[in-house]
Amino acid sequence: MDSIGSAGLRQGEEALSHPEEGLPRPSDSSELVQECLQQFKVTRAQLQQIQASLLGSMEQALRGQASPAPAVRMLPTYVGSTPHGTEQGDFVVLELGATGASLRVLWVTLTGIEGHRVEPRSQEFVIPQAVMLGAGQQLFDFAAHCLSEFLDAQPMSKQGLQLGFSFSFPCHQTGLDRSTLISWTKGFRCSGVEGQDVVQLLRDAIQRHGAYNIDVVAVVNDTVGTMMGCELGARPCEVGLVVDTGTNACYMEEARHVAVLDEDRGRVCVSVEWGSFSDAGALGPVLTTFDHTLDHESLNPGAQRFEKMIGGLYLGELVRLVLAHLARRGVLFGGGTSPALLSRGSILLEHVAEMEDPSAGAARVHAILQDLGLSPGASDVELVQHVCAAVCTRAAQLCAAALAAVLSRLQHGREQQTLQVAVATGGRVCERHPRFCSILQGTVMLLAPECDVSFIPSVDGGGRGVAMVTAVAARLAAHRRLLEETLAPFRLNHDQLAAVQAQMRKAMVKGLRGEASSLRMLPTFVRATPDGSERGDFLALDLGGTNFRVLLVRVTTGVQITSQIYSIPESVAQGSGKQLFDHIVDCIMDFQQKQGLSGQSLPLGFTFSFPCRQLGLDQGILLNWTKGFNASDCEGQDVVNLLREAITRRQAVELNVVAIVNDTVGTMMSCGYEDPRCEIGLIVGTGTNACYMEELRNVAGVPGDSGRMCINMEWGAFGDDGSLAMLSTCFDASVDQASINPGKQRFEKMISGMYLGEIVRHILLHLTSLGVLFRGQQTQRLQTRDIFKTKFLSEIERCLRPTLPPPLQGAFLSTVGDCWPWVVARSALEDEVGEAMTHLFALSSSLAPSDSLALRQVRAILEDLGLPLTSDDALMVLEVCQAVSQRAAQLCGAGVAAVVEKIRENRGLEKLAVSVGVDGTLYKLHPQ
Ligand code: GLC
Ligand code: GLC
Repeated sequence: MDSIGSAGLRQGEEALSHPEEGLPRPSDSSELVQECLQQFKVTRAQLQQIQASLLGSMEQALRGQASPAPAVRMLPTYVGSTPHGTEQGDFVVLELGATGASLRVLWVTLTGIEGHRVEPRSQEFVIPQAVMLGAGQQLFDFAAHCLSEFLDAQPMSKQGLQLGFSFSFPCHQTGLDRSTLISWTKGFRCSGVEGQDVVQLLRDAIQRHGAYNIDVVAVVNDTVGTMMGCELGARPCEVGLVVDTGTNACYMEEARHVAVLDEDRGRVCVSVEWGSFSDAGALGPVLTTFDHTLDHESLNPGAQRFEKMIGGLYLGELVRLVLAHLARRGVLFGGGTSPALLSRGSILLEHVAEMEDPSAGAARVHAILQDLGLSPGASDVELVQHVCAAVCTRAAQLCAAALAAVLSRLQHGREQQTLQVAVATGGRVCERHPRFCSILQGTVMLLAPECDVSFIPSVDGGGRGVAMVTAVAARLAAHRRLLEETLAPFRLNHDQLAAVQAQMRKAMVKGLRGEASSLRMLPTFVRATPDGSERGDFLALDLGGTNFRVLLVRVTTGVQITSQIYSIPESVAQGSGKQLFDHIVDCIMDFQQKQGLSGQSLPLGFTFSFPCRQLGLDQGILLNWTKGFNASDCEGQDVVNLLREAITRRQAVELNVVAIVNDTVGTMMSCGYEDPRCEIGLIVGTGTNACYMEELRNVAGVPGDSGRMCINMEWGAFGDDGSLAMLSTCFDASVDQASINPGKQRFEKMISGMYLGEIVRHILLHLTSLGVLFRGQQTQRLQTRDIFKTKFLSEIERCLRPTLPPPLQGAFLSTVGDCWPWVVARSALEDEVGEAMTHLFALSSSLAPSDSLALRQVRAILEDLGLPLTSDDALMVLEVCQAVSQRAAQLCGAGVAAVVEKIRENRGLEKLAVSVGVDGTLYKLHPQ
């Protein structure tokens, strides 16, 4: 045979180093023996071909290409980063599958201090063959039984036990604690488990057993445990290799390369499941007749062909098949066999390891063979050693080819020419067979010369790594509980909303009667909605929303609008009244000039979105400022007068103020112009409020008993008498306290655009202080008032796929002209009112856990805000936004329900058909 690196050979023919060739040959070694051992030799070219083919399959699987089915699975795990080293706590680890017919339970203590390790306690249990091949439930019951037997013997407290489950079979993971078995491998074949969530099966069994209350927090593959438990060295450990009964590896892949994840940042640990590799072109030439026989007689013929050449479960069997063959041909044992030699599974990995060890004395080999009922001669011992070495050498070389493929993949993924990487190795073949490891390492160097690889033996057989993942999972679960607790007061149930509706109704009645009530129920002197015959050119002002606007409205058969937005600096909004109204008139004059209207006297309507007591259409006493306004010397004054005085000061004589209306009224009227059934106006913008057509007989203080009048409810102040205290959270209290009108507009502060962002910001601050968000680091940014605009809520929630109807079922928006006030939004509460309410309650979280695209967008939005965050953070922020906006929409819906019910009862109707004109930036921009 050619020896190492024989010069002159073409690379493809160059045989690799075969250490057993150093051993002296038995003098009677026949052609037959040579021929037999020759089958186990693999050339460098063959290994390179396997490496290349495996790499191709890995990349195909990563791309998500399903046909032809890739030869390896590339299963993403939910492990996204290698450990920090700060994880701590006590964890129970249950290992199933790695070591074949045994199950291990460990008690692992993580100290959180690097280099300070506590030896775990552990116990191994042999799984009866009948259980490995029996019903799934039996297997999990056995596991639960072993767990409690182990725990019974531990002196520590068994309170709040958290368990990490190392389950070493190919699984589809859908969460840190959710994992579906794809198919059994190695010696297992329990019924009713494939396609099931193994975590759930374990939980059920633990519960059936009833001895301990154990929380199964995480599930991992043994390769992942091996990688995660690696002692932190100079370089990151980003590959986990296991060669035990089976073989496999995991490594850290760039998330953007894993098609199924739809995630463009960070890395994710992928389990290759290379045991199933079976490319005929690459593997075919190295498969021996013994491999075929072994496969044929295995539990899973045709499957896991690669694993069956490497895994410890199979090495003994391969040796047995070769020895039996040679014995039968008369080359070994004087042609004699024994019942043991002829029965499956009689030669174990341990035997092979001992026999192939060159330092093992002939006497030991002799003894093992005798135990098998054989009577070996002196030359037989050496020959048997050669067979063992040939089988193990090939296994190590094939394993090296696979590992080299993973290293190439790391290089490709990171677009690096050279790679420095640490590989954590685990499993009994790696741990107990020094020769296997040295062949593996030497061959990897040969096949991946550009990689500088260090091999680090795993700690506690991977148990520590499983505990690490469990620690992280437990932390995430604890965070989730804190998040849920924090958001619970925002999740209103039917009864709570019905109570809001009932209280609103009561407050309406009192307000209408002129009794003490947080609802002012202000008459507007608008007695009818438009009939569509109105014509003319008008000027309009709109003050009190997101923008201050001046508009020219031409009403002919349709409506034509020209408008311009002007800014009102905060210094003006909160300065002197004189300054504010002068500024308003300056803006109108500017608009007139730009529109060529100077000199024309057009009737001017003033939409003034603050509470006013009106004494007529053109008279409105400002009761108090709301939202961000606080100009001095205005409260208690007639706003029309204040405007007229400014007009005089500015000598803008042609301006003729004819009406003052609240924005709710403007909205109802503009909607009514289109739809005669519109008798309610609703604003959900910077502030919130509603108006509706009330029977005059119910309105105290306005003469007359017949007909109707539009009532401006000023519902933003609902609850200012303390009636909303039950629903108010500490975050609402903080937002209220920091506002310019503490104690006022409590309903508005739970609903409208001016406040929702602030509520969210306060919740985020709280979650950060609990360490749930942003790794507990308070940033200056987040402490800045108003940094979190309500439009971010809309943007963030828009990232989700819209899967649910909007809160007001049937609402649609149709625009006439291009902007307010002639935007008509109709909310057809056409069905029975009760029906409309149920639509409100149907609103719920629409986040699919896989919605990583959404999370990416959320993260981008928050990063623009200067808040650096992880995917977990992004998901939580999203849930906070949803909870806050959902409560807002529901409270608003409860208010509308009170109004429509009142109208229905006023009219003594069974059913009411009514439209609601809706406007406001929050309503229009928020996706739900
Ligand atoms: C088998 C399993 C795999 C495991 C490996 C090593 O190949 O399918 O999940 O990692 O054995 O135990
Ligand atoms: C505030 C005002 C109210 C207005 C509402 C919507 O609540 O007090 O008059 O209708 O905001 O803009």
